[in-house]
Amino acid sequence: MGILEDKDNARLFYKYFSRVYDTINPYIWDDRMRNQALEWFDADRDDRVLDVGAGTGFATEGLLNHVDEVYALDQSRGQFSQAFKKFGKDGKVRFHMGDAERLPFKDDSFDKLWSSGSIEYWPNPVEALREFRRVVKPGGTVLVVGPDYPKLKPFQKLADAIMLFYDAEEAEEMFQAAGFEDTRHFIQQRHRGTPRAITSVATVPEDGDGASDDADVADEATEPAEEPTTADD
Ligand SMILES: C[S@@+](CC[C@H](N)C(=O)[O-])C[C@H]1O[C@@H](n2cnc3c(N)ncnc32)[C@H](O)[C@@H]1O
Repeated sequence: MGILEDKDNARLFYKYFSRVYDTINPYIWDDRMRNQALEWFDADRDDRVLDVGAGTGFATEGLLNHVDEVYALDQSRGQFSQAFKKFGKDGKVRFHMGDAERLPFKDDSFDKLWSSGSIEYWPNPVEALREFRRVVKPGGTVLVVGPDYPKLKPFQKLADAIMLFYDAEEAEEMFQAAGFEDTRHFIQQRHRGTPRAITSVATVPEDGDGASDDADVADEATEPAEEPTTADD
């Protein structure tokens, strides 16, 4: 497991990295890649959308070109303090401090869920994907962007030491383990030589469909979830 696949380490990392995040991010995942992913996401204006690991709001901003309102969740106050500067605290973005693997929302709360550039930090990505399946209505869309696994051996070792990288086959395994059935995976790249992103687009199966191995999270999720807390610092 990579050093940043630890929630405390990731939080500490973003406490400092948040200050330069918006300057560096476009070299890895730019507007064009985001906008293409937004087309795959295919949201309607009145869709209730959750952005998990929303950070400084780069994707949230893109989502707001398609929907009226976005729920944004992140575990980093540093990242959210940058997002507050863009959107304010009481505008079209509803901020929630929280953990991707334990979402503070009731079952079937959302029409669609988006998460870009965050899965690589989660120690238990399948658990988070199960949570996504729980909070999104049957038939709704889940889109996850992560880093594609490097093809060259020396880079693979380095990548594994830092965070989660995965290829389409591993993505498919994770989504299936979380109970998704029809998932498409796309590879994106700014230009030759830059890091590749892998974008997975899945549909939440109707109740009763999908994997039945999600006992822990699903059992818990049948209890009414607490009202979400809004980030207010
Ligand atoms: C690379 S940034 C992506 C930000 C934004 N989604 C974008 O597309 O630019 C990753 C974000 O994931 C958040 N994150 C990491 N682990 C998380 C977790 N377990 N729960 C919620 N957010 C998490 C980080 O705090 C950070 O803001």
